[in-house]
Amino acid sequence: MSAHQPNVINLSKQYSILHEWIYEIRSVDVQTDRMRFRKNLERIAEVAAYEISKHLPYVKKLCTTPLGNTHCWVLEQQPVIATILRAGLAMHQGLLNYFDKADNAFVSAYRKHHDDGSFEISLEYLSCPSLEGRYLIICDPMLATGSSLVKAIQFLLECGQPIQIHVIAAIACTVGIDYLHKHFPQTVVWAGDIDEELTARGYIVPGLGDAGDLAYGGKQQQ
Ligand code: URA
Repeated sequence: MSAHQPNVINLSKQYSILHEWIYEIRSVDVQTDRMRFRKNLERIAEVAAYEISKHLPYVKKLCTTPLGNTHCWVLEQQPVIATILRAGLAMHQGLLNYFDKADNAFVSAYRKHHDDGSFEISLEYLSCPSLEGRYLIICDPMLATGSSLVKAIQFLLECGQPIQIHVIAAIACTVGIDYLHKHFPQTVVWAGDIDEELTARGYIVPGLGDAGDLAYGGKQQQ
């Protein structure tokens, strides 16, 4: 099962303050406070950023203090942080709070729903530096079916082949993780929590609802 794969890390497996934030983004009593919802996504991304930072390469750098010289460890290279618009924006900020010199990529992907409940993913916008030889960290608050994420990654890879891809999600679904790994087996998934169920319309159960709407308000298109 996905949750036990070494390249799937469920950050809720350990008790930490993260549980409070997961509770707040899920709870109908709290999640309607948009500012708190966005802040919690940002904080979850900060935790993931710190954990991911333990898996990036570092180099020694000479550091001169007012009193002498020492060697410090600094990132060998800056990662590229990518976000699928619009729901990922708050998590993107959380990643930037830690990787403050990172390069950035943005992709637009949205679901065009049909009357029979099915949907297709529409990709329209890409702004991305070269990804050749880089560490790519993608935030997608809700890793549900995985179809928009896989399409977004395929779109991003037109800009080069990263060394490694990390995906962070506030809530991920096992179906989506498996679908992602079918297409990109080496991708590492960092999830605030992992749920098992999906509705026919591709919503995670119990999940939290529509992350983009909760963060930024409703939209005309479904
Ligand atoms: N996107 C969301 O915002 N919520 C889900 O449950 C699935 C996809």
